[in-house]
Amino acid sequence: MTQPKTSENALTELVTSRIKEENPRNQEILTKLVKHLHAFVKDVEPTEAEWFSAIDFLTRTGKKCDDKRQEFILLSDVLGVSMLVDAINHRTKTTVTETTVKGPFHATANVYEAGENIARGNEAERGEPTVVRGRVLSPDGKPLANASLDVWQSDDIGYYDVQDVNQPSMNLRGIFKTNANGEFWFRTIKPAAYPVPTDGPVGELLHASGRHAMRPAHIHFWVKAEGYQDLVTHLFVEGDEYLESDAVFGVKDSLVVPFVKNSDPAQAAQWKVGSPFYYVQHDFILAAQ
Ligand code: BEZ
Ligand code: FE
Repeated sequence: MTQPKTSENALTELVTSRIKEENPRNQEILTKLVKHLHAFVKDVEPTEAEWFSAIDFLTRTGKKCDDKRQEFILLSDVLGVSMLVDAINHRTKTTVTETTVKGPFHATANVYEAGENIARGNEAERGEPTVVRGRVLSPDGKPLANASLDVWQSDDIGYYDVQDVNQPSMNLRGIFKTNANGEFWFRTIKPAAYPVPTDGPVGELLHASGRHAMRPAHIHFWVKAEGYQDLVTHLFVEGDEYLESDAVFGVKDSLVVPFVKNSDPAQAAQWKVGSPFYYVQHDFILAAQ
């Protein structure tokens, strides 16, 4: 006796046979989407109530998105999918700086002169002064002049300006250019570890999974130079307690750097920061296009 086409075993073939997409890549993606989704459902065997609860979760995830909040990216981040896509797309580039998630807190920033302080208002007074220096280089060590570094970070208690009405706008973010020797430097404060937003469905998911929401302290960098691939990455603060358990799996060992405490007032004066201060030195190596 032949099975009905809509039986458990025949449905996947029925659905995939109807996909008639001219673009071969789209055909592959749509076919695999159906196959993997059906395999997941066959494996989990959800009750109807469980399936509607999943649909409700995705509906609420969508409703939580607006021009300032992207709950679907956050979902991809905490499920490790963002870092899986990152790993697949940067497999062979061993000689260049490693990439990590961009996250949802990038925003337009001012272009600053070398050495300017991106900390403003209360944060500048309260935070621990930090000098960040380095170079932007090609894979063969050539300094890249006029590269731009778009930098953003949380404050000393773990909030970005876009999350916190008490911070001046464009606090702790800025764009710097490298000089003729490929060098950049700027002043800031030491960032703090912080939780990813937990007031939406992703927070519920983390809670239901028994996971914390913390990210280890870091500074974001989006580095661009003509003729080279954009680099989206972070520098993480060495010694942070969450380096081994980042909620979005974004830590790579090569991106963990010492924030060296310096208590010499003469050096603080040289860098135009209060004493003591933290000193960070790191070169970024971009892949050729
Ligand atoms: C961030 O580092 O800004 C971030 C990354 C992923 C999810 C939430 C925040
Ligand atoms: Fe961040």
